[in-house]
Amino acid sequence: MKASEIFQVYKDNIMPTYNKVPLIFVKGKGSRLWDIKGKAYLDFFPGWGVGNLGHCHPKVMQGVRDQISKLIFVPNNYYHPFQAKLAKELIYWAFPGKVFFCNSGAEANEGAIKLARKFGASTGRFEIITFENAFHGRTLATLAATGQKKYQAGFEPMPEGFKQVKFNDIEAVKAAVTDNTAGIMLELVQGEGGVNVGARDFVLTLRKLCDEKKILLIVDEVQTGVGRTGKMFCYQNYGITPDVMTLAKALGGGLPIGAMIARKELGDILTAGMHASTFGGGPVICKAALGVLNAVQKEKLLANCRNMGEYLLGKLNNLKNSHPVIKEVRGMGLMLGVELDIEGKEIVRKCMDKGLLINCTHDKVLRLMPALNITKKEIDKAVTILGEALG
Ligand SMILES: Cc1ncc(COP(=O)(O)O)c(C=O)c1O
Repeated sequence: MKASEIFQVYKDNIMPTYNKVPLIFVKGKGSRLWDIKGKAYLDFFPGWGVGNLGHCHPKVMQGVRDQISKLIFVPNNYYHPFQAKLAKELIYWAFPGKVFFCNSGAEANEGAIKLARKFGASTGRFEIITFENAFHGRTLATLAATGQKKYQAGFEPMPEGFKQVKFNDIEAVKAAVTDNTAGIMLELVQGEGGVNVGARDFVLTLRKLCDEKKILLIVDEVQTGVGRTGKMFCYQNYGITPDVMTLAKALGGGLPIGAMIARKELGDILTAGMHASTFGGGPVICKAALGVLNAVQKEKLLANCRNMGEYLLGKLNNLKNSHPVIKEVRGMGLMLGVELDIEGKEIVRKCMDKGLLINCTHDKVLRLMPALNITKKEIDKAVTILGEALG
């Protein structure tokens, strides 16, 4: 198909649910993507948080190739070795508990919400507190948890039982907790909401409050998980343990998987018939995810993330000194935001024209989340392009 034909078929036959950029990609390797005309791009936002290993990592490809030639799918009423291996591996990296496998971030969060409701049911508690500028997904329950009016408009009424309070404001949380509260759900670094980092004191006090009131602390690690912030999971930067954690995006190395992990005492709350997902944790995707976790460990990507994160942060702060249009640079590990005084859309487009892919969220926050195996040379190149784009 020619480029013009592809654009036309999308226009005529695919629902217009995405703001699209007129680029057609045909090949990827590491932090490079090539479009249909053969132009190369440096990808500093690989797969919207999916590409923690960059594109087409050999360990992911090998796992998928091996498995696809043997057995592609096993339904969840049977067993296969790789779901067992992946669950064991996730629990090793996280905390003692049990895993539910699904296919996406929204689905993992939906599962966490159901678990919290079931947990609260015996004492009549059902409410989940979430935070302003959160993003938890696009299903109806996760939209209600997300709480942002711009995403909810036209889809009301929202499911009941969700309440939003100001992020990093512990007094607002305390005021919102009632006898109905079953869970508090948050991203420790809000991604879509503008790369807002959870304050240490806030997170520690939140954990304490949840313990005192027997409320589940649900940490959405869909974007921050699998090494993005320099630890395997972001909560480990704070020295806390959540009651429930959700994962997706980077876990499958480019293939769809979600996971909800609950600590041991909560692991048997959802029993047979209460929750399910046909494709959740199939053998091919589990092999891909095992490849991802193996690469993170063997290639020392957590250390690289911390080192390169610091290096990129320094470079971006240098840019800030020479470009007054930059208000603030913030983030954790390789999840960085550059808040501008102006709308960021045009900067993203200029970077794209110069061969650099980045994102803009919340209108004014440029979001940079390169692969965890990014190099100094690639960072230098990206920052030079960004500097030129900022003019
Ligand atoms: C923190 C967070 N939670 C949940 C989701 C939803 O994930 P998915 O698009 O896989 O449903 C996202 C997606 O961007 C996210 O960033």
